[in-house]
Amino acid sequence: MSATILVTGGAGFIGSHTCVALAQAGYTPAILDNLVNSDVRVLDRLERITGKKPQFIEGDVRDRALLDRVFRDLRISGVIHFAGLKAVGDSVADPVTYYDNNVNGTLVLAAAMQAAGVRTLIFSSSATVYGDPERSPIPENAALRPANPYGWSKLMVEQALSDLQLAHPDWSVALLRYFNPVGAHESGLIGEHPQGKPNNLMPFVCQVAVGLREKLAVHGGDYPTADGTGVRDYVHVMDLAEGHVAALLHAEKQPGLLKVNLGTGEGASVLDVVKAFERVSGRPLKYEIGPRRPGDVPAYWADPSLAQDLLGWRARRGLDQMCADSWRWQQANPNGYQS
Ligand code: NAD
Ligand code: WQD
Repeated sequence: MSATILVTGGAGFIGSHTCVALAQAGYTPAILDNLVNSDVRVLDRLERITGKKPQFIEGDVRDRALLDRVFRDLRISGVIHFAGLKAVGDSVADPVTYYDNNVNGTLVLAAAMQAAGVRTLIFSSSATVYGDPERSPIPENAALRPANPYGWSKLMVEQALSDLQLAHPDWSVALLRYFNPVGAHESGLIGEHPQGKPNNLMPFVCQVAVGLREKLAVHGGDYPTADGTGVRDYVHVMDLAEGHVAALLHAEKQPGLLKVNLGTGEGASVLDVVKAFERVSGRPLKYEIGPRRPGDVPAYWADPSLAQDLLGWRARRGLDQMCADSWRWQQANPNGYQS
C-alpha cells in the first residue's frame, strides 16, 4: 500500500501540481483545504491527469479537532503544508489575518502531528524571507530580513519549526524557499487562476494575451538591470512539485532540518518574460513601462546548488516552457476551473 501524504492547501496552485508529482512517485495524496483561494473542481482535473481522484477534506488547518480526526482516520505518513495566504499587499493591510492563517495555522498543524506521531513535514517557505538581498545568486545562509507581514509570517514559521526539530530530533522538517513559481501542468488541465486582478506577472501576461486585459503595466523601467526592468528567478511549478517529492524522499530517509532554495539559478527580466511569451504564443503582447511598484526589489535569483547536492533536484524546464504551459492552461481555461 502506498504511503498517504496529507497535502494542506492541496487544491491551490502549487499544491495541486504537487499532488500530480506525488501520485507519479507512487504516493497517495489526501488534500485538506478550506477553498478560500481555490476551486473544488480541481479534484476532477487531478483525476483526469492521475487516474485517481484524491481524497478531499474541506476544512481549515487551524481546526485542531478536524486535524485530529484526519490523523486518526487516515494513515498519514507525512505532511506537505501549503495552506496559507500569499498576497503581500493584503498582509500589509490585514496582518493579523495573515499571522493567524500562516503562523497559527502551522502551529496547530504541528501540535496535531506531534500528538498523532507524524514526524515528517515539508513547509512552503519563500524567497521573500531574504527581503532585498545583498547579492544574487542568494545562498540559504544569506541574511533573512522580510519586508512585509507575509514574509515575516514565513520566517516566523521557519523559526518555530526549526525550534521544534531541535527539541524533537526524531522530526524531519524541510523548509523549502520557493522563488517565483509560474507555468502549469503540461496537460493544460490545472494551473493558476487568481481571483480578480492578478498581482503577479505571469497571470497578468496570460490575461492580456487572451484578451481579458488590455495591456501589461511594466512596473519600472529604470532599475539597474540589463534592460531596466525587474529581474526574478521564475521556476516551473512542475519542477517545484518534483522538488517536494525529492524533499519528501530525503526527509523520509533521515530525521533532521533542511532549509533549501527551489529556483533555477537564473534571472529573467519582465521584458524577457514578455518576449518569451510572445515567442511561444505567436501573439504580440501590449505593454507599457510605468512607475516602479512600491516595495519591489530590483533583482534577485537563487543559488540552487544545495537542492542539487542534498536532494539531487534541479529545475529542468526553461522560460519558454513556463510560458508555453501557462498559455496552454490560460487558453483552455480563460475563467479558471469555471471554464
Ligand atoms: P494558493 O493560494 O493557490 O494555495 C494555497 C491553498 O491553501 C489554497 O487552496 C487555499 O484555499 C488554501 N488555504 C489557505 N488558507 C487555508 C487555511 N487556513 N486552511 C486550509 N486551507 C487554506 O497559493 P500557492 O501559490 O499554491 O502557494 C502555496 C504555498 O506556497 C503558500 O503557503 C504560499 O505562501 C507559498 N508560496 C507561494 C509562492 C507563489 O508565488 N505562488 C511563492 C513562495 C511561497
Ligand atoms: C515579478 C516581476 C514586478 C506584475 C511575489 C511575492 C513573493 C512571492 C512571489 C510568495 C517584478 C513585475 C509584475 C505586473 C510587472 N510569493 N510586474 N507588472 O513581486 O517577485 O514576488 O510573488 O511567496 O513573496 O512578493 O512577483 O510576479 O508580482 O513580479 O511589471 O503587472 O514582474 O515588478 O519585477 P514578485 P510578481
